[in-house]
Amino acid sequence: MRLTPALGEIIPKRKSTRSYTGEALPAGQLEELRTRLGQLVPLFPDIPVKLEIVDASQVRCMQPWKTPHFITAATQDTPDAFINVGFVLQQMDLYLQSIGLGACWVGLGRPKSDVPKGLTHAILMPFGIAAEPVLRDSVEQFRRKSPEEIADAPDPRLECVRLAPSATNSQPWYIVHQGEWLHVYQVEQGPLKRMTLGKMNCIDMGIALCHLAVTCQGEFTLQRLEDAPAVEGYTYIGTVPAL
Ligand SMILES: Cc1cc2nc3c(=O)[nH]c(=O)nc-3n(C[C@H](O)[C@H](O)[C@H](O)COP(=O)(O)O)c2cc1C
Repeated sequence: MRLTPALGEIIPKRKSTRSYTGEALPAGQLEELRTRLGQLVPLFPDIPVKLEIVDASQVRCMQPWKTPHFITAATQDTPDAFINVGFVLQQMDLYLQSIGLGACWVGLGRPKSDVPKGLTHAILMPFGIAAEPVLRDSVEQFRRKSPEEIADAPDPRLECVRLAPSATNSQPWYIVHQGEWLHVYQVEQGPLKRMTLGKMNCIDMGIALCHLAVTCQGEFTLQRLEDAPAVEGYTYIGTVPAL
């Protein structure tokens, strides 16, 4: 697959927006965004994911988001389904910011209505007209792990993973180099953190894979290799071509 490479320019600038004017977007623009939701590229095309743009009155949220617009995401209750949601919806996060709108991933909330049968609520994404700058001025403004902490060898091509957003900024990714391949791992959380971050960290991994796919020069694929090296404290997610 190939994702829109232009979105790569947003990765070193993007940020979560939590402050909105409260103004609604024009109906035509919401329609354009609905069309775009339908065009996002899945990582696992066989896994159902239902994305909808709804009004704020249709969601329950612990944080007082002032924007009238939310994306809701429902999918199956499996790690791969949550990884897929992260991969798909991060394309939207980058796109929204590329057109000057604010957005934020939100785990602390859910739609008021029931999700379709067989699916479970995955995540919300409020978005809209920001009352603060939607982009950062420089990479120094990111609070992130160092390159050495996220990979077995420092690699400028992994900057896109290092800067990815994650639930509570947990940054659960780790990359191992092997020839032309990058093996991608997710940190194994203890039982307590697993309860709160389990599903969220899968979404985080999908976000990191989306950033790899956006910056990949050629065709992006995720493979599961039988003989991928085991890394203590981490779960193997898959292998991607060196970018
Ligand atoms: C899966 C996921 C869930 C998140 N849930 C929330 C949330 O409930 N409330 C919130 O304010 N931010 C939430 N965030 C935003 C993170 O706190 C934020 O991405 C992280 O601190 C890094 O900051 P940045 O996005 O500004 O770079 C979430 C992010 C992700 C990826």
